[in-house]
Amino acid sequence: MPALIVGNWKMNGLGEDIAEVAAMAGSSAAKGRSGIWIAPPFTLIDRAVIVSAGAVKIGGQDCHGNAKGAHTGCVSAPMLADLGAGFVIVGHSERRRDNGETDADVRAKAMAGRAAELEVILCIGETRGQRDSGQTEAVLSSQLAGSLPDDAEGLIIAYEPVWAIGTGLTPTLGDVETAHAHIRSQIVARFGPAGHGVRILYGGSVTPANAGDLLRVADVGGVLVGGASLTAQSLLAIAAAAP
Ligand code: PGA
Repeated sequence: MPALIVGNWKMNGLGEDIAEVAAMAGSSAAKGRSGIWIAPPFTLIDRAVIVSAGAVKIGGQDCHGNAKGAHTGCVSAPMLADLGAGFVIVGHSERRRDNGETDADVRAKAMAGRAAELEVILCIGETRGQRDSGQTEAVLSSQLAGSLPDDAEGLIIAYEPVWAIGTGLTPTLGDVETAHAHIRSQIVARFGPAGHGVRILYGGSVTPANAGDLLRVADVGGVLVGGASLTAQSLLAIAAAAP
C-alpha cells in the first residue's frame, strides 16, 4: 500500500499560500507512489479544491457532529463535501484541548463525516504523563472504544502522541511500532477482518529528515504532518522519503 502523506495546516494559510497547494498538485509525487492530502483552514478549502484539480485530496480539519442547525461558527460535514472536500480530520488533540472535545464528541463527528461520505482521519494519542506512567496502551484503547464510528469503511486512524506534536520530539521507532500494533489489535477486535483494511498514520514532529525511518516502521501506513506541511518543498521532501 503506497504511503499516505497528509498535511494539516491548522490555523495557518492565507490566499497567497494556495500557491503551495498548486505546487504540491503539480508535482509528480502527488501522482506517484504516495498520495498527498491537505487539510487547509476552512477558508481555503474551495480554492484548494480548484487548484489541486484532483491531484491532491483536500479535506477539513474538523466538522460538527450534526449535519446542520443552530451552531454559530461551526462547519458541518455536508458543507465540507459540498465544497469538494474528500476527507475530514476528527479528534485532533488540539481540538480536544482547546475545545474540550470528548471521545463521544469525536465519535459523533466521525459518524457525521462518514454520513457525508467523507473519509475520516480519527486522531488518538497519549500525553507525556500518560506515557511516563505506563498508560499509553490503556489510553489508546479507551480513546478508540469511545470514539470509533460504527464501521471500518472510509476510516483512517492517526496515532499522534500529544507530547510529540509541534515539539520536535518523536517516540522511538520501536515505540511507534508497539503503538501501531496495539491500535491494529483493537481495531480488528472491534471490526473483525475489515479492521485489517484500516490505514494507521503516525503524526507528531514528522520532518523530511525522519519521515523515511518512520514510514518504514511496520504498519505505519503514512504520516500526518503539521508544521512541515506548510510548504510544498517540505511536504514533497517527506513524500520523496517514502519507501
Ligand atoms: P506537527 O503536527 O507535525 O507540527 O508536530 C502534527 C499534527 O498535529 O498533526
